[in-house]
Amino acid sequence: MTSLARRTLPLLVLASVACGPAAETSPPGASAANASEPETEAWEPDPTLGRQIALDLCGRCHALEGEGPGPHPAAPPLPVLARRVSAEALLPRLEEGIRAVHPDMPEIRLAPAEIDSFLAFWSSL
Ligand code: HEC
Repeated sequence: MTSLARRTLPLLVLASVACGPAAETSPPGASAANASEPETEAWEPDPTLGRQIALDLCGRCHALEGEGPGPHPAAPPLPVLARRVSAEALLPRLEEGIRAVHPDMPEIRLAPAEIDSFLAFWSSL
């Protein structure tokens, strides 16, 4: 289980790089315009990526939608948690790997882009 999550993470990093702003819009001729604009950010928070991360890391126990119990009967669904725990409050826990929240949980390590994307998803709940 844990090893599966670990193996998924590099893929997610790749996906976030590959699906960054460059992949979004590049009609022919736009490259010149892009080149003149200095790249301020290599990536932007992506709620879709964030949802995928939540599915991979939290979905084993927490339901991603609704109010009902998740796969782990004691784990409240994420929308309920999101009302109780703000993204700001969640961030330091994510950075710690949420180990302090519940020792049951595997160690979680996310790249900054992944954390921002996850928090964008969390805020959208
Ligand atoms: C192995 C199962 C498991 C996984 C995976 C898991 N959780 Fe949990 N989580 C629980 C259980 C069980 C509870 C409720 C009991 C508790 O609070 O310790 C919980 C509670 C929580 C709480 C509420 C704690 C509080 O302070 O009230 C938050 C926030 C949370 N989880 C976030 C997450 C996030 C975000 C992820 C994914 C990154 C995640 N959890 C992944 C099992 C899990």
